[in-house]
Amino acid sequence: MLRYLLSLLCFSFIVPFLKSTSAAGDVITCSGTVPMRYRSDKISITDFGGVGDGNTLNTQAFRAAIYRIQHLRRRGGTLLYIPPGVYLTESFNLTSHMTLYLARDAVIRATRDTWNWPLIDPLPSYGRGRELPGGRYMSFIHGDGIHDVIITGENGTIDGQGDVWWNMWRQRTLQYTRPNLIEFMNSKDIIISNVIFRNSPFWNIHPVYSSNIVIRYVTILAPGDSPNTDGIDPDSSSNVCIEDSYIATGDDMVAVKSGWDEYGIAYGRPSSNITIRRVTGSSPFAGIAIGSETSGGVENVLAENINLYKMGVGIHIKTNIGRGGFIRNITVSDVYMENARKGIKIAGDVGDHPDDNFNPNALPVVKGITIKNVWGVQVQQSGSIQGLKNSPFTEICLSNINLRGVLVPGTTPWKCSDVSGAAFEVSPWPCSELISKSGTGSCSVPF
Ligand SMILES: *[C@@H]1O[C@H](CO)[C@@H](O)[C@H](O)[C@H]1NC(C)=O
Ligand SMILES: *[C@@H]1O[C@H](CO)[C@@H](O)[C@H](O)[C@H]1NC(C)=O
Ligand SMILES: *[C@@H]1O[C@H](CO)[C@@H](O)[C@H](O)[C@H]1NC(C)=O
Ligand SMILES: *[C@@H]1O[C@H](CO)[C@@H](O)[C@H](O)[C@H]1NC(C)=O
Repeated sequence: MLRYLLSLLCFSFIVPFLKSTSAAGDVITCSGTVPMRYRSDKISITDFGGVGDGNTLNTQAFRAAIYRIQHLRRRGGTLLYIPPGVYLTESFNLTSHMTLYLARDAVIRATRDTWNWPLIDPLPSYGRGRELPGGRYMSFIHGDGIHDVIITGENGTIDGQGDVWWNMWRQRTLQYTRPNLIEFMNSKDIIISNVIFRNSPFWNIHPVYSSNIVIRYVTILAPGDSPNTDGIDPDSSSNVCIEDSYIATGDDMVAVKSGWDEYGIAYGRPSSNITIRRVTGSSPFAGIAIGSETSGGVENVLAENINLYKMGVGIHIKTNIGRGGFIRNITVSDVYMENARKGIKIAGDVGDHPDDNFNPNALPVVKGITIKNVWGVQVQQSGSIQGLKNSPFTEICLSNINLRGVLVPGTTPWKCSDVSGAAFEVSPWPCSELISKSGTGSCSVPF
């Protein structure tokens, strides 16, 4: 009976929600469209003993509910409803054919007890934990080898209580690499929408070796001084759509990656076909980033309609010697930035190495980067493009760019080396390495 009432309750919430998303039909499709699925089978965490008082540990309730979804499979999958309240829990795994639905004022909160947090193997494309050698702590919400999963609701919150982890990082007492807030590995057909992510221990949303991922209408928040709290890091993943979101964290807002040095080269899985659009936010590091771990290659990325406030670097494409791989066919357009240290940075000397076995001859290839329609105010330095002597960056196209601000005395607005390409209507005018295309209308014609 209770279950029935609950289903009705959920139903009344979901119908208007579905209507509002399907109405947002886009003319130009985002990479990785995944249809929103309606699920008639619904269960609530409270059916499994869940208590949303902020104190009770709900690990068993989450595991039991997800076990039920996995083993008593219903046609069309199952929706797990999280009612208003604060549900404290240890990390847990999702399963296929499920929707995790957070009601308005529902909070899924990570325990602060980090001592028995589960460990998992390092990612093969990284060879070790990103921060420390060996394994890594499992993400708070984890999915491995799953498909048809939706995390949504009425803007409920997934709270990582990251400060306990940030403090361990600051005090150098971490034993292994901190957990992501949510990670999907080897997964496909995933939608994350209408959820707030708060205080991740490490990166917030990490799709890796995955495809067909849609992330929209999300809010991602962490303090500006929280270490490595990247917003969304698509990693060795393809067909990813990130749109209509707000991200203000302590590290890159969105960073596209594909593995680390010799491990990433050996694994050889690129990130490709990624759309990032209508994203707004703030970060002491980058707004839109590619890298620095790009050893499996990154291609076909389109980022557009991006608004950045109080930034380190607006657009940052970064790699290093030893990374190998490629970064090609990247377009960033229609960016507004206000108050940034640097507008645009493309660099071949960023990031550390997993160990001393990286190959210094494994040089990345950076080719075909178009950055256009960028307007910036209070930008201290317009940009720098510094390629590698033995692997110059080529086909770099800057057009219709205006980045203004008070230059730090003794510096120049642009700095370039080992780069070729063209510029059209860029102010301040960039370095002589880029050919002026004034009068041709655009620099995206063949070089
Ligand atoms: C969760 O998934 C991880 C990685 O796939 C696995 O090692 C772990 O045993 C799973 N935990 C539970 C409780 O199922
Ligand atoms: C949830 O947040 C998104 C993004 O901020 C917003 O567009 C949407 O209207 C909100 N939905 C509800 C039900 O409040
Ligand atoms: C990326 O998109 C291109 C062009 O639409 C397509 O040919 C290619 O198969 C896609 N790549 C992947 C990995 O899905
Ligand atoms: C380059 O990337 C865009 C997405 O930004 C894609 O539409 C296009 O097909 C790609 N071009 C090639 C040659 O793959």
